[in-house]
Amino acid sequence: MTLLFLIKKYSGSQLNVDTYKADGLLDKIRIQRHYTYEDEVVCTKEALPEYEKTMQKFFTEHLHPDEEIRFILDGSGYFDVRDKNDEWIRIEATTGDMLVIPRGIYHRFTLDMKDFIKAKRLFSGDTPVWTAFFRPADDMQCRKDYLERMKAGFTAPLIK
Ligand code: LAC
Ligand code: NI
Repeated sequence: MTLLFLIKKYSGSQLNVDTYKADGLLDKIRIQRHYTYEDEVVCTKEALPEYEKTMQKFFTEHLHPDEEIRFILDGSGYFDVRDKNDEWIRIEATTGDMLVIPRGIYHRFTLDMKDFIKAKRLFSGDTPVWTAFFRPADDMQCRKDYLERMKAGFTAPLIK
């Protein structure tokens, strides 16, 4: 898929929620993609600050000037991204999946009927910035860059 990477298989290996702390694969991804920060987020009424408001924000179409990287440790949810015709593509993310949503792509997130996801968030940079810029954000440089890459058929690397 050209719009984003679904990193379930990486260099012939499989990310595994039971072994990732020791098997070295996540370390390899961290190094290759310059991910220097990480934390974990749990989306439940109890664990997520301002749950309703935050979930509503996640489901409002937005973009980021940085990659959005999520490794699903438990539970599941849906990431929707816009395709080249501006139609939604729904991506079901379940335990063990890792998603890298490119900078500048419009997207949104929602839980499914199980109402639970636990994800590791990674970030390239020491201080993470999770700011969501709601659509329309077409004047942002990351959006212009994304459209340029799309026009070129995504031949240029998506990493900054
Ligand atoms: C975020 C997601 C959920 O921005 O799109 O955190
Ligand atoms: Ni986002």
